Amino acid sequence: MSKAHFGLVGLGVMGENLVLNAERNGFSSVVFNRTFSKTEEFLRGRGAGKRILGAKTIEEFVLMLERPRRILMMVKAGSATDAVIENISKYLEEGDLLIDGGNSQFQDTERRVKQLESQSFGYIGMGVSGGSKGALEGPSMMPGGTEASYKAIESLLTKMAAQVEDGPCVTYVGPGGSGHFVKTVHNGIEYGIEQILSEAYDLMKRIKGMSCNEMSEIFSAWNETEELSSYLVEITELCLRTKEKDTNLDVVETILDKAGQKGTGLWTVVSALELGVSIPTIYASLNARVMSSLKDQRLKIESTIPVEIDHIFDLGNKSDNMKPLFDAVSLATIASYAQGMDILMEASDVYGYSLHMPSIAQIWKGGCIIRSKLLRRIQEAYVKEPKLKNLIFDEWFNAQIASKIKNLAYIVSSATKAGVPVPCLSSTLDYFNSYRTGRLPQNLVQAMRDCFGSHTYERLDKEGSFHTEWLK
Ligand code: 6PG
Repeated sequence: MSKAHFGLVGLGVMGENLVLNAERNGFSSVVFNRTFSKTEEFLRGRGAGKRILGAKTIEEFVLMLERPRRILMMVKAGSATDAVIENISKYLEEGDLLIDGGNSQFQDTERRVKQLESQSFGYIGMGVSGGSKGALEGPSMMPGGTEASYKAIESLLTKMAAQVEDGPCVTYVGPGGSGHFVKTVHNGIEYGIEQILSEAYDLMKRIKGMSCNEMSEIFSAWNETEELSSYLVEITELCLRTKEKDTNLDVVETILDKAGQKGTGLWTVVSALELGVSIPTIYASLNARVMSSLKDQRLKIESTIPVEIDHIFDLGNKSDNMKPLFDAVSLATIASYAQGMDILMEASDVYGYSLHMPSIAQIWKGGCIIRSKLLRRIQEAYVKEPKLKNLIFDEWFNAQIASKIKNLAYIVSSATKAGVPVPCLSSTLDYFNSYRTGRLPQNLVQAMRDCFGSHTYERLDKEGSFHTEWLK
C-alpha cells in the first residue's frame, strides 16, 4: 500500500479526534500508541473503515509515512514529550517534521525547535484548542516554529481547522515557542472568563436565590448579546440546566467546589509578571482556584467568621437580563481579553515573536474555548491600530467601559458588603479605576523607597534623578 500522508503519536481523546479529523479531510494516516492494545481498540472501533493504519513500533510507524513526514504528537507535556522526540528522531530523515500539539511550556518548545532544527528536522509547537469536540470537528490551532516548517503543514492544518467568515482558524503564529506561548495566554483568558461566569452564578444564587434553571435562562439571554455571546457562556447555560438522570438534581450542585489546573494559567501569570504586564483579572482567577482548593480550611472558618448575607441588593431582573450584573460581567470579560492581548503585545517585542494581533484574534473566533463575538471587535481594534497599547484605547471598548463601569462598581461594592467574594469582578474594577487615574499614589511609594534606601525618584516638574534628606 502507498505510504500515509500523516502520522499521529498518542491515542488519547484529543489524538483520536485529530486523526479522524485529518482522515476526514483527505489525509490517510498512521497511528502509534505506547500500548499497542489501545491502537487495536481504536482501529476496531472509531477508526474502523477509515484510511487509518496502526503501527506496532515507532520504527514501523516512521517507515509507513510518506516523505517529508508529518507527525503530530499528542502526548503529555514535559518529559513524556521529550521521550517521544528522543525515540522517534533516531528514525527521522532530513526535512521530516514533528508537531507537538500538547499544552507544552513555551520555553520547552523554544529548546526543542532549536534542537530539532539543528538536526535538519522541522519542529512545530502548536497550541490546539477546542476540547475533544473541537479536535474532531475543527479546532483553533496556534502553530509556531520556522515558517518553512509551517508551510509544509499549512494545507493539512487549514483543512482541519474550524472555519469562520474570514477563513480557517489557523495561521503561522511566529518563531520558536510562540505557538505554545499564544496558547498559554489563551488559557489564561479562559481561566479569567470561567471565574467571572462563576462569580455571576454565585451572586444570582446567593443574593437572589435563583434556581439553576432560572440562572441558565439568564446565561442563555446573555449569549444572544454582542458583549457576551461566546462558547463559555453557552456551556455555562448548558451546565446549569443539566440534571442528574436518576435523582433529577442539578449536576452543578453535586460537584465539589475545588477547581483543578494543569499549569497554563500559572504560566500565563508568571510570564505576565516577568514581562511587567498588569493582568489582575487573570491573576484573580488563578488565585480563586488556589483558594478553592483549601476546602477544609474554608469549612472551618465559615463557622468562626460566618458570612450573614444581610445585604440583599438589586442584581437586575429577568426582564432586563440582570442589567447591572450583565454590565459587570461584560467589563470583566473585556478585561480578561485586554490583559491577555497585552501580554501578547509585550511578548511579541521582548521575545521577538512579531505576533500579528489581528490574526490571533481571527483564529480565536472559531473552534477554541474562548471563541466569542467580542473577538471580532478585538480583531478590528488591532487592524485599526496594530500597536494598540490596550483595548481601553480603542473607541468601542472605551465606550463600553465608560458606560458600564458604574454598574461594575455597584455590583462589586454590594457584593463586598454582602460578604460574597468576587475576585475577578473586583480586580477588574481596580484595574479600570487605576487606568483612569492620572495620578496614582506611587509618588509616596517612591518617597518611602528613597527615605529608607536612597533609591532616588523622578519629579513631575523637572528631568533627572533626585534624592531628599528626609527629616529624622
Ligand atoms: C482548550 C483548553 C485545554 C486545556 C483545558 C485544561 O483550549 O481546549 O484550554 O487545552 O487543557 O482547558 O486547562 P486546566 O485544566 O488548566 O483548567
